[in-house]
Amino acid sequence: AAAADLAGRHVVISAGGTREPLDPVRFLGNRSSGKQGYALARTAVARGARVTLVVANTGLADPAGADVVRVETAQQLHEAVFKAAADADAVVMAAAVADFRPARYAAGKIKKKDGEEPAPLELVRNPDILAELSAARPKPGQVVVGFAAETDDVLANGLAKLTRKGCDLLVVNEVGEHKTFGSEQNEAVVLAPDGTRTPVPYGPKEALADVVWDLVLQRW
Ligand code: PMT
Repeated sequence: AAAADLAGRHVVISAGGTREPLDPVRFLGNRSSGKQGYALARTAVARGARVTLVVANTGLADPAGADVVRVETAQQLHEAVFKAAADADAVVMAAAVADFRPARYAAGKIKKKDGEEPAPLELVRNPDILAELSAARPKPGQVVVGFAAETDDVLANGLAKLTRKGCDLLVVNEVGEHKTFGSEQNEAVVLAPDGTRTPVPYGPKEALADVVWDLVLQRW
């Protein structure tokens, strides 16, 4: 898609994985590299969109032509995505967001004490950014896209997640050795509430990104 078919549109993309701090040296995190989100950003820039990329903890260089906002935690991602979404024509949540965070943050490094059992880790819920955004739609006509990385019952879990989150499209990718997390490649099925399923064969993350933009364009 060489055409500037996204010209005049503002799109917001989240990429990477959130980190939920336990103390100054430790966090709960996940294996997202950010590559899928960056591929979405690069393809959107190439197709003429104004792009805001909200990045959680990646080691990747800022993509040319995108406005980059860096965050660490799910709560910070929530705030940054909602701020950018106010005038966005589409929001694509490719980030892996922690559903829970430690209930308490220890200001000093947590120590192990000889002969003592470790204290149980208490967690509290994080905001569900995708579900909140799907319900709020800060800009009329805004298209909201979610991702789901699944290990089993991939399609059934994807369909349930599409309904639960209330988004317009859900990109379901199966966790595998040479795809999804960390890889240059991906393979997916894009689900829509009308029952439409768009399979995207194994290939570079840019190819999946371009299919996502094609489907977003159809919804505008
Ligand atoms: O970064 P890479 O290494 O390239 O890997 C890409 C990816 C695997 C991270 C990406 O393709 C992907 O699937 N991202 C979503 C990961 C996931 O498992 O999401 P989830 O099932 O926990 O959440 C579903 C959707 O809700 C996601 O769009 C997520 O951004 C969103 N969510 C989740 C929890 C939460 N509290 N708020 C959210 O908005």
